[in-house]
Parts: sequence; C-alpha cells; structure tokens
Amino acid sequence: MRHHPSPSSSMPACGGTGRRAARSSTWSSSPRRSLYRTVASNIPSGAVGLFDRELRYIVVDGAGVLDAAGVFKEALVGKTIGEVLPADTWALLEPLCRGALDGRTANGEVPSRGRIYFIHTLPIPGEHGEVSMGMVMALDITARKRAEEEVRRMNEDLERRVVERTAELEDAYHHLQALSAHLQSVREQEQARVAREIHDELGQALTGLKFELSRLAQRLRGHPGGVSDQATALGAVVDETIHNVRRISSELRPAILDDLGLVDALEWHAEEFEKRTGITCTVKAPRRRIEAGPDLGIALFRICQEALTNVARHADATAVRIVLARNRGHVVLEVYDNGAGIPPAVLTSAKSLGLLGMRERTRAFNGDLVIRGAPGEGTVVKVKIPCRD
Ligand SMILES: Nc1ncnc2c1ncn2[C@@H]1O[C@H](COP(=O)(O)OP(=O)(O)O)[C@@H](O)[C@H]1O
Ligand SMILES: [Mg+2]
Repeated sequence: MRHHPSPSSSMPACGGTGRRAARSSTWSSSPRRSLYRTVASNIPSGAVGLFDRELRYIVVDGAGVLDAAGVFKEALVGKTIGEVLPADTWALLEPLCRGALDGRTANGEVPSRGRIYFIHTLPIPGEHGEVSMGMVMALDITARKRAEEEVRRMNEDLERRVVERTAELEDAYHHLQALSAHLQSVREQEQARVAREIHDELGQALTGLKFELSRLAQRLRGHPGGVSDQATALGAVVDETIHNVRRISSELRPAILDDLGLVDALEWHAEEFEKRTGITCTVKAPRRRIEAGPDLGIALFRICQEALTNVARHADATAVRIVLARNRGHVVLEVYDNGAGIPPAVLTSAKSLGLLGMRERTRAFNGDLVIRGAPGEGTVVKVKIPCRD
C-alpha cells in the first residue's frame, strides 16, 4: 500500500517561507490535493482553505468567495488570513480559526465586503493526534440571507397591516356598538312616549266614552227598537278597545317597570305569558327591589321578553323558569325552558337577529350573555351584567 504523507506530517505547523514552499510541493503532488481541489472547486459560491498554526494559508481554493473578494488564490498562500481579510471580518473569523487550532469545530455567519458567509472551521489532526492545521470553509449565503430578510420584512409588513386592519375593524365595531346602543335607547324612549300618549289620551277618551255610553243606555232603557241594548253593546266594544289600548301600551313600554320595578314587571309579564301560551311560567327573584336603573331594567326586561317569545315560538316547552338574582356586583337573569334545546349552529348564525339583539343589549352594559341548549333537555339563556350594589 502506498503511503501518502499526511499534510500534517509533510507540513509542520510552523516554519519559514522555504519550509512552506516544500510543504506546498509535497501537498500538490498528493492525491489528497486532487480530492481537495475537486471538492473545493465544486463548492457552490464557496471556498475552502487550510491554515497552519500561525494562521497562514497553506492552500486555498474556491472561485466564488475569492472572486468576490477580488483576490487571486495563488496570492493568498503563505499570507496570514488576518492580513488578507478586512479587519472587521477578521475580528469575527479569528476566534473560529483559533478554536480550530485548539481542537474545536465551530460555525458562524460572517459578513464581509457587503456579502454574508457561512463559516465552518475544524481542526485537522496530524499523525500523532496533535492539531497541526485548521480548515476553514466559507459559503456565500448572501442570496439566501437576502431572501430570508425579504420574507421576514414581508411577514413584518403583513403583521403590521393585520394589526392595523384589526384596529380599524375594532374601531368600526365599537362605533357600531355605540350606535346600536344609542338607537336602542332612542327607540325605547320613543316607545315610552307613544305608550304614554296612547294610554293617557286614548285611554281617558275611551273611559269617558264608556261612561257616557252607560249613561245613555240607562236613559234609553224602555225605549222601543232595542236602542238601549245597542248602547250597552257599544259599551262592551269600548271596554274591549280599552283593554286592547292597555295591552298595546304595555307592550310598547310596560308602565309597571317604571312604577314598580323589574321584579314586578317580570312577574306581570310571566303571568301574561302563561295566560297567552299555556306554558307554566314561574319567577324566582329576591324580595327586595332590584335597583337596576331604568336603562338596565328595560334591557333585562326586553331580553327576558325575547327569550320567552323564543320559548313560545321554537322550544315546544311545557314550563319556563325565570331566575333573577344579585350577586357580588352583578345582576343575573336566567331563563330556563324544558323544550327541544337550541341547536348550537343557530347560536353563531348571522340570521339569529333575536339572539344578536339580546347580545347587543348585554354588551351595551359590559355584560355577558350565554345561551346553552341540549337536545330534548331545554335551553338556558343567562345574562350577567355588572351593577353597583
Ligand atoms: N328556547 C329555544 N329553544 C329552541 N330553539 C330556540 C330557542 N330560542 C331560539 N331558538 C332557535 O334559535 C333561532 C334564532 O332565534 P332568534 O335569533 O330569536 O330568531 P327568531 O326567533 O326570529 O327565529 C330560532 O330560529 C330557533 O331555531
Ligand atoms: Mg326570536
């Protein structure tokens, strides 16, 4: 077997120029040299070099880096790496090269002359295991780094735009919420005014009419042609109309809510609901009046009204339970039914305008609304709104 002198045995780490020349000639005739050259010249945009313990190039090859650096590889041999490279590049590379001479491999990214190189340094052991040389490999990764940088910049740009758009959307959403709350309140005020006028004006006129009709019926008693009976029948129509006017007025704005408060209003509404639908409706509420304030009172009343309307329309239930409670700075309203159970899909559907209305009313008071249903086990609507004790 032919013996190929290893670079370390033929090229001692230190020595003068003459010894370096001798090393060079042995090295160039070695098959390792041709292997090395093949590898070196095939490194895409890279270079590879060996250096001695004085950090002098023993051999160096690789078109990419050397061309970019504007130096001829032949001119480098025998020179120290430090004197060839710009000072700032060398400052970064030197620890890696010295590390190799101390037996360590290392990686790093080193910028030089406007380009970026991936550097790998490693020790080259001699025959007796001592480190006589180091190897430095450099790959020009400028294009990749620029692409990475571009991707990073685009990502940042995208993120920034997402943040901006989200902020705009949130802004628009808050405006819409405020507008919705405002419209709700204007609508309630308007309904209250109409309810009052219907109740007072129309109600009083009808009561007067009823009184007059009953007096007329008395005076006409005994007259031929049944005119007294006609007057009495007219009185019954007026009675019915008075009843309808009261109902319409209450639907527009339950006066009981303003006069007696939320608990009484809910109890009254539950009674009406039970009478109208035949669904048992109970109310559990604290004895003492809940001081919810007129706006919060009407909001909770309307939410309960919508929940009961839904029970009547969709639940196919036989019983409803309304629970109103105060606990630790909150007022909580729950409406349970024992019906079919609300399907989960409708909870988020844009078509569920009734549910959306309940949610909007709750949000206007910084509250939470939770609606849950289980098939065949009913539905619960739970509203929790912060409220001073
Ligand atoms: N208590 C309930 N039990 C079963 N399904 C319900 C109940 N409440 C609401 N739903 C379902 O949720 C849907 C959306 O309700 P809502 O937004 O009030 O709209 P609407 O009452 O006009 O249909 C209803 O169409 C119904 O399918
Ligand atoms: Mg509804």
